Amino acid sequence: MKKHIAVIKGDGIGPEIVQQAIKVLDAVAFRFNHEFKYTPVDMGACAIEKYGVPISDDDLGICADSDAVLLGAIGDPKYDNDPTLKVRPEQGLLKLRKFLGLYCNIRPIVTYANIADQSPLKNHLLKDVDFVIYRELIGGIYFGEKTLSEDGTKASDLCTYTSRQIERIAHEAFKAAEQRKQKVTVVDKANVLETSRLWRKEVMNVAELYPKVKLEYLFVDNAAMQIVQQPQSFDVILTENMFGDILSDLASVITGSIGMLPSSSVGGRNALFEPIHGSYPQAKGLDIANPNATILAVAMLLDYFELHDEATAVRNAVDWAMQEGIVTQDISGDSPSACSAIGDLIANYIEGHEELTINKRNTEESKGVLI
Ligand code: IPM
Ligand code: MG
Repeated sequence: MKKHIAVIKGDGIGPEIVQQAIKVLDAVAFRFNHEFKYTPVDMGACAIEKYGVPISDDDLGICADSDAVLLGAIGDPKYDNDPTLKVRPEQGLLKLRKFLGLYCNIRPIVTYANIADQSPLKNHLLKDVDFVIYRELIGGIYFGEKTLSEDGTKASDLCTYTSRQIERIAHEAFKAAEQRKQKVTVVDKANVLETSRLWRKEVMNVAELYPKVKLEYLFVDNAAMQIVQQPQSFDVILTENMFGDILSDLASVITGSIGMLPSSSVGGRNALFEPIHGSYPQAKGLDIANPNATILAVAMLLDYFELHDEATAVRNAVDWAMQEGIVTQDISGDSPSACSAIGDLIANYIEGHEELTINKRNTEESKGVLI
């Protein structure tokens, strides 16, 4: 299979983690006989520095023409602390999501036994945690009209949803639930917000087409509590843009390391794959970032291409590395491996060079990079 992938390295640790993901894609291409062509795209603080905009029209075009987009991370502290700035790295991502029509953001939350002790939750709560957040991505308060009064003392952000916007992501969530544990939990604030009441009405209609799937509703404040108290009770969480943003960060810490979680954004004629975490500027260039979330984003990308055996090979390789204790410092402060070493070992494992990967001396050697 030949595929064209637009690659956005972005800011901070973005370039380092994307480099490992590309090693993994190359290994998959080698082992399964595919051809992946990569086209670099600038987005984020690096694009502002280069072109004055967080993503150029040409680069938007490259993403639209590709078969899929792979993203590292964007964001730079220099833009975070100055509310007066008009141009910000995050605008690039929002523009890209909108341009590609990526209305459905999928964020799976799973646990790994060997990092359970790092979870802020007690071990017994982590058993059987396996849920996925379906977050609406191109509507709501993120994209509504914004105002700031002339004297700068009054601001507003409008939250709007249409039936169509709710219905299309609801179908995605129900289809996913049919293949999983057959439950959808809609998270909203229907006791206060009109948009939430529209969500309830539309989701109820969609639910009728999926009789096997149980539908539940939770107010967002209660949902935040339940995700922490009984994370194993969830299957598919369906929610609007901003609630999904907040809850997915909350849920991501359950695993024990945010460096393990990938996400995909689908819906339009294209799809985007990225880790859930941000650009971790403090670690930039140190070769210490956890590349697994981005490597697992590659697995989601391969599933999207319907290359399911290939996706499984990537997931198996990550599981293997985790079981062997080949992990970055966010997981094992005592004997961490370098980001680049993990990329090499996982790629080798996929290519089938077990004699290279089983030999842990490789990692021992590459640990030197950290010192
Ligand atoms: C996310 C991020 C983005 C969002 C930012 C970078 C605009 O937090 O993907 O969750 O809020 O959607
Ligand atoms: Mg977020």
